[in-house]
Formats: sequence, structure tokens, C-alpha cells
Amino acid sequence: MVIGILKEEAPENRVALLPESVATLTKMMVTVYVEKDAGQRAYASGEDYMTAGAKIASKPDVIAQSEMLIKINPPTDAELALMKEKTVLLAVLNPYFNTDLIKSLAQKNITGFSLDVIPRTSRAQSMDILSSMATVAGYKAVLTAANALPKFFPMFMTAAGTITPAKVLILGAGVAGLQAIATSRKLGAVVEVFDVRAAVKEEVVGLGAKFVEVEGAVDDKSAGGYAVEQSDEFRKKQAEAVHNHAIKSDVVICTAQIPGKRAPVLLKKETVEAMKPGSVIIDLAASTGGNCEVTKNDETIVYTGVKVIGNSSLPVDMPTDASKMFGKNVINFLKLMINAQGEFKLNWQDDIVKGTCVTHDLEIVNDRVKAMLTV
Ligand code: NAI
Repeated sequence: MVIGILKEEAPENRVALLPESVATLTKMMVTVYVEKDAGQRAYASGEDYMTAGAKIASKPDVIAQSEMLIKINPPTDAELALMKEKTVLLAVLNPYFNTDLIKSLAQKNITGFSLDVIPRTSRAQSMDILSSMATVAGYKAVLTAANALPKFFPMFMTAAGTITPAKVLILGAGVAGLQAIATSRKLGAVVEVFDVRAAVKEEVVGLGAKFVEVEGAVDDKSAGGYAVEQSDEFRKKQAEAVHNHAIKSDVVICTAQIPGKRAPVLLKKETVEAMKPGSVIIDLAASTGGNCEVTKNDETIVYTGVKVIGNSSLPVDMPTDASKMFGKNVINFLKLMINAQGEFKLNWQDDIVKGTCVTHDLEIVNDRVKAMLTV
């Protein structure tokens, strides 16, 4: 089969597949076309891609030659206009928000796979681009906070006196939160953590942080390791506890999410007003409304002396390793669909293939998107 890698639009710096992943594909008997300069902002040259076995071509040529196109971001209107019927598209399509795009893909008879809806099962772990990007974001969040903070993270004992370590409060200990704990600890901060799932306590403590428990959390074991919505009473109790810890912290990193829902508001306006001036809040959940009441998506604001950073695309600033992880996840996913002869074979019996496909044969095949379009 022939696969094409398209160049992303600025300000995106990542590329879906680095040359090392292209080399894996060529070993799988696949012909790969890469759009000119696709890897430039991730520091991968055309020569690197050619050494890995790819052919370099213009965007229209890549689209015309390829049976499958791989991107990170959804296709632009211009790309969509060039796509032939029955092209297979792999990208982060964000289908529950981009319903018009999904309708267009179905109308154009494109088989669309949305890499952000790969089921989060243990077999799919090696394909989970959301976890990979959350790992990057958790790490970058801490570095961004350390840069913005007018204080040191580690404790220092110097001739000029002792500097006490920074206090970091982390809300949510999922993939991004755990990475943020590990990175904060490596930088020498004292770390406290809130989560509603008791199961994460051991891991949090193992990373050297303190787990702050609020009694009465609904922890639904049947939610597949995800959090569920909490009662009003719990939310009130938790907001009070978060307030008491946040006002003593230098940095708050917000990572709490409930899949498919607005991010829970854990850091109230009054809490930010009571925090120390110069403190920093990094709200990773900004794109889904934010865990902090004053966050503005993709903006940095200063609210009563506290810097609130709502950067929703932190992986863009770490394009090499973010692209490397993305590409490895994609290759693992492709192994479910490419046979030993390098041919594309759709296996609808495979729950990961089926669960990731959003459009096929002129139809929207994702039940949740379909339901959203009928209401
Ligand atoms: P995850 O689902 O693995 O973790 C979220 C955690 O929040 C879970 O442990 C959950 O139990 C916890 N949580 C839910 N409700 C809570 C509550 N009321 N109180 C305390 N904890 C609560 O999610 P993941 O993959 O770690 O992503 C975290 C956030 O980071 C998401 O909003 C995601 O969209 C965002 N993200 C942001 C990026 C950026 O560049 N800003 C990049 C990648 C992800």
C-alpha cells in the first residue's frame, strides 16, 4: 500500500511520522510519500526521510499518490478538496466537536480513523496518542511553571542563607498529573496531590508526593479507570480543601478531567484571589473549560498577581519527542491493518480498529457522533 505523510500547518511543529517510523513502514513493505518540508519544524530533513526510504513530493502529489494519509491535526479544507474517494485518513479528528468535518468525510467517502478515540484498553496502550501527548504536557507544564515562577524549585543551602523548596499542588493524577508529579519531584519541589480515585494514591506516594484525601468521593470502578462526576456536597468539601492547600502553594498544575465532560472546576476565583502574588497556575484542562475558574484557553493572564497559563498545545513546543511518540503509536495501530505483504486489510472484528473508525463507505460509523447528529 501507499501511505502519505502530510505537512502540518503552523503553529504546529510536530509531524505525524519521523524518519525512524517511516523506516519501520518501509520494512513493512509500504511505499511512503512525505510532503516536502513536513518534518522541518521537528528537525527532520527531506534527506533523512529519503534515507528512511520515503519519496518527497508536493502536497497535491502526496494526496494523489496515497491510499492512506496520516496527519496529526484534522485536514484543512484545501487538503480535503484534494482527497480522492476511498482514501483512508488517520488523524486526531476530535470527532465529538468537529461534527461538520466528520459529515464531510462521510460525504466524500473517506474512511476516517480518529486517533484520539482509540479505546483505552490495555491492548491499545501502545497506540494511545492521548497518553503520549499527556505525558509530554505533564512534563512541559512543570518546566513552564518553573520558568514563570520568581522562585527556585529545589531547596538550596547557600552562603546567602537557605532557600526553601517550591510547593507544587497537582489536581488530578492521571497520565499528565503523574508525569507532572515525577518532574516536579526531580526538580526538588514539595508536591501535594488531589484525585478522586483512591487507586492512584499508591502511585502518587511512590513518586514522593503527598496524597490529600477528601472523604466521600464517588469512585466508580466500572468507569474503566476514569473519574466520574461528583456530588454537590463532595464538590463543596473538595473546593474548601483545595483552597486551603492552594493558598500555601507556589504552583498549581491542573490536570483533572472526566472524559467527554466539561473539566471539573476545582480552583475557584476566590482561591486564586487568596493565592500568593507571583504564584503560577498551569491549567492543562483549558481546552475543555479549565479546572480553574479564571483560566482563558490558549492565553496567559495575570489575575490578582497570579499567572494563569492556559496553553492547550504544550506538545507543539516539544516537537521531536512528541512526534517520535506519536509516530510509534501510529505504527502500532497500523500493524492491526497492514498484512505481511504490506497490504491494507480492514478487520472489523478487531475492537480497536472498529472503535477508532469514524467514517466508512459514505456513513458515519461512530455511534456517539451519530447520536450527536440526531439530537
Ligand atoms: P486522565 O484521564 O488520565 O487523568 C485525569 C485525572 O483527573 C484522573 O486521574 C481523574 O481521576 C482526575 N479527576 C477527575 N475529576 C477530578 C476531581 N474532581 N478532583 C480531582 N481529580 C479528578 O487525563 P490525562 O490524559 O492525564 O489528561 C489530563 C488533562 O490534560 C486533560 O484535560 C487533557 O485534555 C489535558 N491535556 C492537555 C494538553 C496541553 O497541551 N495543555 C496536552 C495533553 C492533554
